[in-house]
Amino acid sequence: MQVPDIIIAIDGYSSTGKSSFAKIIANEFSFLYLDSGALYRGATLFAIEEGFISDDCTIDVAGLDKALQSLDIHFESDGAHIGDRCIEKEIRSLAVAEKVSPIATVPEVRNFVDKKLREFGRMKRIVMDGRDIGTTVFPDAELKIFMTADTDIRAERRAAEMRAKGEEADIETVKKNLLERDYIDSHRETSPLSKAEDAIVLDNSHMTMEDQMEWIKGIIAERFGC
Ligand code: DC
Repeated sequence: MQVPDIIIAIDGYSSTGKSSFAKIIANEFSFLYLDSGALYRGATLFAIEEGFISDDCTIDVAGLDKALQSLDIHFESDGAHIGDRCIEKEIRSLAVAEKVSPIATVPEVRNFVDKKLREFGRMKRIVMDGRDIGTTVFPDAELKIFMTADTDIRAERRAAEMRAKGEEADIETVKKNLLERDYIDSHRETSPLSKAEDAIVLDNSHMTMEDQMEWIKGIIAERFGC
């Protein structure tokens, strides 16, 4: 399928399979995939390691903001990096998952991440997933998708993913974390998770990846006549 030079913005709840879907779209259409959550997770790992967030999630905003100005966080072929250290494994841990939503409420952190994300937007042919891509980062994206799925199904999928990586995953703990993140992400003051008016909803509770690819190809064919 010959897809035109567009930006595809994918937002939605935690563990709805946004990044898996975005990666396959990127592969199939020769687009660049960008995982905005990885930058929030990277900023969170940095905040934990440098002591800018305490166990009870009190954040030293001024200190973190200052330190972020010289933080070299970027993507390489093996994923997110801080300097030359690959942080892919650490940013997917439960320790980071438990603190990332509070960190992502901080406007200074959002500014830092948004600036990096928009640099990528100068190019077209990108697919980016997150929580505010269609509403804030790329409000002019040509195709916006908002993903959702049944909570129990999401918790099962996330737990299976963690177990596959050899991590422990208690389903109730995973579900609690998902719901807490959804709540914080949807209720924060700056750029809360919400469906852009012109986004198309995809509930993939009972869809395979093949079903989802068929679905998006149908939408692209209809909208862009290709
Ligand atoms: O997509 P993810 O689960 O890796 O994202 C981790 C957290 O980062 C998520 O709970 C909220 C935050 N996030 C955000 O606020 N805005 C984005 N565009 C992407 C992620």
